[in-house]
Amino acid sequence: MKADLARARELLADARRIVVLTGAGISAESGVPTFRGPKGLWKSFRPEELATPEAFRRDPCLVWGWYAWRRSLVEKCVPNTGHLALARLALVERGRTTIVTQNVDALHHRAARAIAAELGDGDPTPAFPLEVHGAIDRDRCSGCGQRSDGVIDVDVTSVDKLPRCGECDSLLRPDVVWFGEALDPAVIGASFEAAREADVCLVAGTSAVVYPVASVPDMTLQSGGVVIEANLEPTPLSSRATISLMGLAGELLPDLVP
Ligand code: OAD
Repeated sequence: MKADLARARELLADARRIVVLTGAGISAESGVPTFRGPKGLWKSFRPEELATPEAFRRDPCLVWGWYAWRRSLVEKCVPNTGHLALARLALVERGRTTIVTQNVDALHHRAARAIAAELGDGDPTPAFPLEVHGAIDRDRCSGCGQRSDGVIDVDVTSVDKLPRCGECDSLLRPDVVWFGEALDPAVIGASFEAAREADVCLVAGTSAVVYPVASVPDMTLQSGGVVIEANLEPTPLSSRATISLMGLAGELLPDLVP
């Protein structure tokens, strides 16, 4: 493990372009629940009842209730040492690193703002991630698609009280990707491009089973680059990864990209 860690650190230090792919595991140490595994959200909740367009049509109050709960939960969480290390990586040498995240919790954004303030230059945007599964702190109109800041304190007691679009009066919904929905082609396209251009793909805290995002590391490999995985346990990616490191993202990442 020590030799792997040292080699991974070297590969990252020498890389011309880096793509980072993160999943729920990077936010676990901030207190955000993951999806799979013994304590994952999909153990206690059924995705088809809460995270599909059909579920929203059937029972928008139930779906809003679940997202309002998660929205208030992530609001109270703060970025951890893993998010901060990645933000520093992306901000210290701008243009070298692209962060792609499956997370909707905005913790990468908050880490970016904190590090930009620490570095004293005030522009966090190079460390903002490509959010392939959307953002829980934003709303989107289910009719016209207009995006807006997330409504706080959503009243889920009746459909009449749910938030509506100011333009077309359709119901607002959280701006996240549900099962059965297509990803934003611009966002996934930019992620794939970053993966193909990278000589190192660093994958942290994802079970690497949800496609098309899970093909990001394969694109780097196919372009001749290397993949470094940081996860608590082996995943389906581990056998293809150049280096697979087992441990907490909040400990491994600051060690990998100090
Ligand atoms: P998962 O819950 O599937 O996987 C979390 C991964 O993080 C697992 O492989 C854990 O071993 C690992 N892990 C947990 N804690 C960790 C820690 N502290 N340090 C390092 N690794 C840790 O989450 P994702 O892979 O992000 O999609 O799930 C992908 C997608 O499935 C989500 O974006 C979501 C879900 O359905 C949508 O909602 C569209």
